[in-house]
Amino acid sequence: MNQPDIEWIRPAAERMIGDLVQPDRVHSRVYTDPGIFELEMARIFGRVWVYVGHASEIPNPGDYLVRRIGKTAVIFVHGRDGVRRVLLNRCRHRGAEVAESEAGNARQFTCWYHGWSYDNTGKLIGITQPGGYEDQGVDMARMGLTEAPRFDSYRGFHFASLAASGPALMEELGATAASLDIVVEASPVGEIFVDAGHHKTAYRGNWKLVGMDGYHANYVHASVLATWERDPEAGIGSTHRDDPYSDPALSRVRHLGGGHCMLDFYEQRRKHYDRQLQFLKRFEGGADYIEAMHRAYGDERAQFLIATGGDPHVGIYPSLQIINNHIRIITPVTVDYTEVTMLPIRVGGMSDGLTAERLRQHESFYGPCGAGSPDDSEMFERVQRGMQAEVDPWVDLSRGMRRERREANGSTIGLITDEGTQRGQMQRWLELMSAAS
Ligand code: FES
Ligand SMILES: [Fe+2]
Repeated sequence: MNQPDIEWIRPAAERMIGDLVQPDRVHSRVYTDPGIFELEMARIFGRVWVYVGHASEIPNPGDYLVRRIGKTAVIFVHGRDGVRRVLLNRCRHRGAEVAESEAGNARQFTCWYHGWSYDNTGKLIGITQPGGYEDQGVDMARMGLTEAPRFDSYRGFHFASLAASGPALMEELGATAASLDIVVEASPVGEIFVDAGHHKTAYRGNWKLVGMDGYHANYVHASVLATWERDPEAGIGSTHRDDPYSDPALSRVRHLGGGHCMLDFYEQRRKHYDRQLQFLKRFEGGADYIEAMHRAYGDERAQFLIATGGDPHVGIYPSLQIINNHIRIITPVTVDYTEVTMLPIRVGGMSDGLTAERLRQHESFYGPCGAGSPDDSEMFERVQRGMQAEVDPWVDLSRGMRRERREANGSTIGLITDEGTQRGQMQRWLELMSAAS
């Protein structure tokens, strides 16, 4: 056993960040040190494109959501002028939050501290007792709610960046844009709706623990898998019923570059395409859906899309995941406290019966009383507590290093239980955290 490393008496954030991440292991301080967390907020969440929401969440003028980009609360709002924006949830007077609900419809946001008000485009429309400013006056035109420096979208998925410059959204999305295509093209009419409610959960652990892990399912979710074994109809649906973890020849972990990762079940699901067809046909409207998909996308693409069920099983660095039927937003709060918001996706052009089945599948595993997510959170909390140990502080991420390989398209793949996803995320972490500008 190693002796405690006295070098750590110095604040970790002041040390060379590079010391914390090695090719096959990561120092626990990466997950436990408040100084590192602050640096992450600046160098990761203060810089890259961060997912804020889907267009369908704010369909009408006045609709808004409060989301966070790192520690910065923002309002994702549909203005009365028809334009969607990301505004800082911060009064231009003395900084109070102006949107008090997490979501709603508002013609204006009024700050409760001293009563300044802004319309839903962010424009300052009124200040109380304006006479107090008579010498200089308040420049109403310049004192609207601050917009996020950059804002862009792809296929309805909206992202913002707190940095005024940097790579364009599409550049940063890279290969994951194709994953978003899969989500949208699960619909024969090319439309998805994030309008089936959401639930938020929190765990006492670091935000990076919500990884893309293909190794844990047989252990953490053993009881769920046993249930599905006994009663396949009780499970999350045909896409998981065939336990993809059991066929490593077909299921893979994939690092797409840029910290973006996926558990790649495409081949596994393609193999069981017929089963997916049978499953869909059991529902009213299922056969029509299959036909509409073939008409919309042609046979080859339709088969692929039907097989995947619109699930790219992707993690878009740093805080968006799209897994099975839902969008997951990971919100770091403190170094050891994280909120996770899960929003089921409703697919346009699907019958009510199919839609209901997808929602029930989602709830059964990920819902507040689901059989899966609470177990994951429990593990994240155990990891966070275990990582407090200062003796032998290294977290091992070496699984599958020797057998991973790089594909011509630049992605790195390994077997489904390998830790190539975690290594890919930490590579990106290191790259961002090491770059001061
Ligand atoms: S802080 Fe908002 S009106 Fe004063
Ligand atoms: Fe899990």
